Amino acid sequence: MKNQISKTYLFKIYKKYFNELRILTYRIRQDYSNFRKYRATFSDFDGEILYCLVRERKPNIVYEISPDCGFSSIYITSALAQNNSGKLYSFEIEKKKFNIDTKKLIKNNIKNYSYKNHEIIIGDVVETSKSFANPDMVLIDSCHDEWFAKWYINHLFPRLNDIAFVQDITFYDRVEYSGESKVLMKHLKNKNYISLGIIERLENFKKINNFFPKRRSFESNSIILSKKIKIEKVLPNKEDIFKNNFFNLRINNNRIYEIENKLEPFPQRQNIHRTYLRLSKIKDKGFYLKKAIGFAITQLHYNSKPFNETLLFLLLNLNLIFMLRMLFFHPSSAVVLLRNVFTQLKDRIYKRI
Ligand SMILES: C[S@@+](CC[C@H](N)C(=O)[O-])C[C@H]1O[C@@H](n2cnc3c(N)ncnc32)[C@H](O)[C@@H]1O
Repeated sequence: MKNQISKTYLFKIYKKYFNELRILTYRIRQDYSNFRKYRATFSDFDGEILYCLVRERKPNIVYEISPDCGFSSIYITSALAQNNSGKLYSFEIEKKKFNIDTKKLIKNNIKNYSYKNHEIIIGDVVETSKSFANPDMVLIDSCHDEWFAKWYINHLFPRLNDIAFVQDITFYDRVEYSGESKVLMKHLKNKNYISLGIIERLENFKKINNFFPKRRSFESNSIILSKKIKIEKVLPNKEDIFKNNFFNLRINNNRIYEIENKLEPFPQRQNIHRTYLRLSKIKDKGFYLKKAIGFAITQLHYNSKPFNETLLFLLLNLNLIFMLRMLFFHPSSAVVLLRNVFTQLKDRIYKRI
């Protein structure tokens, strides 16, 4: 029987693989601009813990559902290469990404982290995974619909020998808004699991994490669970003071300070600009608008959503000077702005009908 998973266990392995992680995270940081050209949506802490778990638990078979462009794959292949054992199956539904054959794209993206026993399988994992040996470990970061969670709970978990690492389920203080997390949370009611968002905020973990260069420094929303292994209960604190960033505007000052304090520290909250925009409607308008704009600009080189949403917000709230300054900064976003205005108008007309 392999070791149970607890805070103490995770800390022990985080320390144990510290030197390997320093080297690996530095290499990923150097390659990050290449990953970002495609997509890289796996947070730093998740990658580090996933690496340590694969190193320590030495699985024979790992399923990665799904690799997308291969960013999460690098943590798994790197750990398997150090173990010098185990096989990774990466299941991906899309044949092509960015007009490039998916297998080729992934292989090229992870060439500095490649591992001999790695097979990429194209197709719907629900079908394609049936014929492979049962996994010891599985990473699930795939389709976020209800049916998909039902599939893995009923058909994949019974085949799993050790642990599942599931991304996009709960942050340390809120549940992801998806059909998948709704179904999984219901399944986990009264069961133990570990919220990595809570773990990454523990001081002893932060002290180690500070040594690693930031790659994709967003907060963790992963959980670790198992049917066969004992798991300590480390549940998220589910009182969502942000309400997915669209919180009630009639809140008191203490609550505002609480929100501000939670906004500032790293790792970053996703879509933080929305919270700043909301705060700008409560107090210190210019200050918070600048913060939202600042964040939007920092993201612009690989994600234009914050920039476009901020522009639309400025237009709808008639903060025209700020809006024009943003347009000056990035004139081509005017096209997206017009498209967004058109969509808004259409939605309003349809609602009336
Ligand atoms: C969030 S991305 C994975 C991100 C990746 N782990 C990373 O580190 O960047 C989700 C991926 O799941 C794939 N996917 C969705 N449904 C799937 C299915 N039924 N079978 C296999 N892959 C699927 C999508 O094509 C997409 O590439």
